[in-house]
Amino acid sequence: MLTHQKIRQKFLEFFEQRGHKIVSSSSLLPNDQSVLFTTAGMQQFKPYYTGQADAKKDFDFLNTVSIQKSMRTSDIDEVGDETHLTFFEMLGNFSFGGYWKKEAIQYSHDFITKEMGLRIGHVSVFEGLPSAGVPVDEESEQIWKSLDSNIVVKKANIHDNFWGPTGNEGPCGPTTEIYLDGVEVWNIVFNEFYYSGSREELLSGKSSKKLDKLKTLGIDTGMGLERLTMVLQHKNNIFETDLFEPLTQSIPNHFDLRTKRIIADHSRTIVFLSSEGIIPSNKEQGYVLRRLMRRIMALNISEDIIDSVINTYAEQYPELQAKRREIHNIYSEELVKFNKTLRGGLNELKRLEKVDAVGAFRLYESFGLPYELIKDVAKDRAKDLAREAFDQEFKKHQEKSRAGAEKKFGGHGLLLDTGELRAGNEEELKKATRLHTATHLLHASLRKVLGEEVKQAGSDITAERLRFDFNFSHKLTSEELQKIEDMANETVENDYKITKEEMSYEDAIKSGALAFFKLKYPPTVNVYSVGDFSKELCGGPHVSHTAEVGHIRITKEEAVSAGVRRIRAVVE
Ligand code: ALA
Repeated sequence: MLTHQKIRQKFLEFFEQRGHKIVSSSSLLPNDQSVLFTTAGMQQFKPYYTGQADAKKDFDFLNTVSIQKSMRTSDIDEVGDETHLTFFEMLGNFSFGGYWKKEAIQYSHDFITKEMGLRIGHVSVFEGLPSAGVPVDEESEQIWKSLDSNIVVKKANIHDNFWGPTGNEGPCGPTTEIYLDGVEVWNIVFNEFYYSGSREELLSGKSSKKLDKLKTLGIDTGMGLERLTMVLQHKNNIFETDLFEPLTQSIPNHFDLRTKRIIADHSRTIVFLSSEGIIPSNKEQGYVLRRLMRRIMALNISEDIIDSVINTYAEQYPELQAKRREIHNIYSEELVKFNKTLRGGLNELKRLEKVDAVGAFRLYESFGLPYELIKDVAKDRAKDLAREAFDQEFKKHQEKSRAGAEKKFGGHGLLLDTGELRAGNEEELKKATRLHTATHLLHASLRKVLGEEVKQAGSDITAERLRFDFNFSHKLTSEELQKIEDMANETVENDYKITKEEMSYEDAIKSGALAFFKLKYPPTVNVYSVGDFSKELCGGPHVSHTAEVGHIRITKEEAVSAGVRRIRAVVE
């Protein structure tokens, strides 16, 4: 079996032998103040793409290779599934005028197929963005075909196959991505442009900021070490790889799988953030660290877990070893504070005559008292307190606080936040409204194609995409997905009028309108209908005719947990 150490070494050597200078990972705290964390390997190289700095002078090479410590809070809610993490490492090769598409694709192809002996499932290339003057990337498609005439090349849009810019402005460009066993593993970016605004502005399509050609064409690639290791070690998920094994071994067995994964993820991130000198606090990076730490502390996890992480990475990151004591100190100081709050909570709890879900959740929310602890301490006074009711309070709160969290995690001011739907300005609101109607169409189509046992388990809509979770037992086939997508689009083309009726909750349910069991509805509700195709209890907003939705495209289908599937889709 290839160990993660061996994989790292092979990657660095492969590119070193091809004229790349090995460069160490930069800090998780970037120089660029407009971003909280280093999210990609290219960040430390930004000035070399723009010509502000000279790679030849600094590295004696035009090409570099690195294994970058990276951190993405945008995926924090997905942690616990099979492939998402907050902290991860990225293998990357970079070029600042040294080579372009042909070499970049050939290197990645050869590394995956020859050096690693793997089969590429499929690749994707950019479908182009005529409005910004970016053509479809036929060149990359041809290069792939010349390397392997049987390779499956899919086209993808700006959301999936256009990288950057990171922060307020910067280099960006089309990408080609390599998938192994259906998992996106390697992203190869052709840094061809410089955009003078943020990615959000670029995606809105409404900003007057310019997309300029860069003088020097640049290459930026990023391959998730955890995901590559998973494929190479024939594991079902990243947590079974040798990057996690010693760590997961040290987590008590009574936790469910998802919780175990969250503990494993968070403890790695805690160690790496602490090693960079971040201290838990109530703002920015410190807030993220506090949130991760308290999640673990509430579960009463032994501090030994810190040593498991340090030991796994001691060879690659000797600084972890050197800072072992410092990291423990940061953790224990926060634990003291956490325990103090916890004690305050226990005092509060003593005063309650009866503990119901609302009260229990308040104690959790203000003092971090976990549900189990409340049950345990309050005994008879909490005998009617059920886990489900507590979870429901939690869910309600999550929906309310999402706006705040969005802001903290690098979002912007919010115009609308219904828990399900978020938008920051008028433009985003329009797009999110189309996606919202698309969600209803897909929900109805899912039930018509897969059966009525399909039930909504969650929904989340941003201006870029919709995400819909539902209860269903197995992975959807590509035929099923196609049928669902076609059915939803047919409804769009038929241009149904969308009607809204106000009625009592009971009447709504009797009339066959779909409700989301996890939500608590008021006595009087709105029911939105799309012809006789779909009928749902919903707070809106929706478009008035289905044609306004535009073409719906399902971009992904995956598992969230046992029996729960997730689809993502965009409207075009
Ligand atoms: N910068 C690109 C990424 O992180 C390679 O995916």
